[in-house]
Amino acid sequence: MKRSFLLLYVLLVQALYGAWCCVGGSLHCEYSNSASLHRPHSVSITEFGAVGDGVTLNTKAFQNALFYLNSFSDKGGAKLFVPAGQWLTGSFDLISHLTLWLDKGATILGSTSSENWPVVDPLPSYGRGRELPGRRHRSLIYGQNLTDVVITGENGTIDGQGSIWWDWFRNGELNYTRPHLVELMNSTGLVISNLTFLNSPFWNIHPVYCRDVVVKNLTILAPLESPNTDGVDPDSSTNVCIEDCYIVTGDDLVSIKSGWDEYGISYARPSSKIKINRLSGQTSSSSGIAIGSEMSGGVSEIYIKDLHLFNSNTGIRIKTSPGRGGYVRNVHISNVKLDNVQKGIRFTGTYGEHPDEKFDPIALPVIEKITIENVNGEDIGVAGLLEGIEGDVFKNICFLNVTLTVKKNSKRSPWKCSNVRGYSQWVSPEIACDSFKESIFPEHSSDCFGLSENKLEESSGFSKSPWLLSW
Ligand SMILES: *[C@@H]1O[C@H](CO)[C@@H](O)[C@H](O)[C@H]1NC(C)=O
Ligand SMILES: *[C@@H]1O[C@H](CO)[C@@H](O)[C@H](O)[C@H]1NC(C)=O
Ligand SMILES: *[C@@H]1O[C@H](CO)[C@@H](O)[C@H](O)[C@H]1NC(C)=O
Ligand SMILES: *[C@@H]1O[C@H](CO)[C@@H](O)[C@H](O)[C@H]1NC(C)=O
Ligand SMILES: *[C@@H]1O[C@H](CO)[C@@H](O)[C@H](O)[C@H]1NC(C)=O
Ligand SMILES: *[C@@H]1O[C@H](CO)[C@@H](O)[C@H](O)[C@H]1NC(C)=O
Ligand SMILES: *[C@@H]1O[C@H](CO)[C@@H](O)[C@H](O)[C@H]1NC(C)=O
Repeated sequence: MKRSFLLLYVLLVQALYGAWCCVGGSLHCEYSNSASLHRPHSVSITEFGAVGDGVTLNTKAFQNALFYLNSFSDKGGAKLFVPAGQWLTGSFDLISHLTLWLDKGATILGSTSSENWPVVDPLPSYGRGRELPGRRHRSLIYGQNLTDVVITGENGTIDGQGSIWWDWFRNGELNYTRPHLVELMNSTGLVISNLTFLNSPFWNIHPVYCRDVVVKNLTILAPLESPNTDGVDPDSSTNVCIEDCYIVTGDDLVSIKSGWDEYGISYARPSSKIKINRLSGQTSSSSGIAIGSEMSGGVSEIYIKDLHLFNSNTGIRIKTSPGRGGYVRNVHISNVKLDNVQKGIRFTGTYGEHPDEKFDPIALPVIEKITIENVNGEDIGVAGLLEGIEGDVFKNICFLNVTLTVKKNSKRSPWKCSNVRGYSQWVSPEIACDSFKESIFPEHSSDCFGLSENKLEESSGFSKSPWLLSW
């Protein structure tokens, strides 16, 4: 007995270390171009007539500075230095080989007049503005077709002064979809780090059709009741790393997307190789991590580790709908801590929200190979609401070592499942759903994403061990 216990322990440690250490490769973001952190040329925004009094509109100064700095793009690039002060501006366009540096005490303030946020075409993968048909306001800091762009500093702030936009939204006074704080489109080699983002009109940071993106060490804040103030939304982008961020907003902290219904299906740009490490924060209406609901170009190879969410609505959520098409597959989420969260894990197969009536109702999304392991939650309302699509079962969903302590006064059953299938091991409270009854080890570890190298599968009869049953 003692010997087999030891053997099991060794196998267990090897197995869990294997899954922990090597899934998704390195534990840190890698920079595609670390030389870009040091630019040979630097100018201050004040050299272009900017006034940091919080009243003077500095859009022209930003545009002129960036026009000038463009001449250094083949000479190692340049830095635009923004010193302490309140720099009011409308939307401006970035250039390649640029570092936008917000010094300590520097705040870029978004104008509160909508005409300072010009209107641009909808994204091809959305076919229209996200909240209103037609065009959309351009983000405060915008860039297209760029390479090697760094937005950083010494905890400077980008403040969207979004409350006026939230009022326009609530009162139905918008003419176009609200803008983001930063949107970079069709760009590569991006770093956004060491800054604070406040009060975005809409989503905060939106890399779309991008590659090689690092988002690191940000504080992103907006009131809990502010509408659609998502933190970071990687969209149809590849090789994105988000780490060490603290996000408290009115919507998802991070939401991974890839286009909307028939537009996303035909544009066919997936989000893949996305790594999120050490994300913490709060959202009272939405999720810590969301995938979707726009996922029509496909989402895969997602590695999330060390998520801490408190006083929030939902921990981890996958949202989709008939009409979306696309897929979400090969997702590995581990080391999650949830404190006072209403829903631990939620899958929604009938989210709805279509861009128009032209969506194809039989374009069914494929949701498979989602592994969630090492989760601990206290004061949870419902452990899991797992709802797939009738005739389109979400499959190979694996829960390993998940403990979600449900609130004492909760009368609901801790797990609800429909049209989902998978495996579970060491889950408490037990998943009472038949479709999760089979345990992962030994025979199903290869069906579970991120666990296939597991040594446990070699140990036959492991899952029947009395020691494990009481574990
Ligand atoms: C980016 O590239 C596209 C396609 O070549 C082009 O239509 C668009 O005008 C470019 N945008 C900018 C800002 O250069
Ligand atoms: C993306 O940017 C590259 C240049 O960086 C350009 O050649 C290409 O046309 C752009 N594509 C789109 C769809 O904008
Ligand atoms: C995070 O950013 C702050 C400034 O916002 C800086 O003081 C701190 O050193 C950064 N931490 C890391 C790990 O980069
Ligand atoms: C950065 O500034 C924000 C807001 O001003 C603050 O909440 C945060 O603690 C600061 N971070 C650091 C590392 O100084
Ligand atoms: C919408 O358009 C009307 C008419 O041009 C304008 O008066 C109003 O300010 C616009 N609203 C917003 C929020 O931009
Ligand atoms: C963030 O700031 C810290 C402290 O100044 C610095 O060491 C680090 O390189 C910065 N990181 C990034 C990614 O800008
Ligand atoms: C189970 O998950 C918790 C985190 O919730 C972790 O501390 C613990 O080490 C995990 N157990 C094993 C055997 O890895």
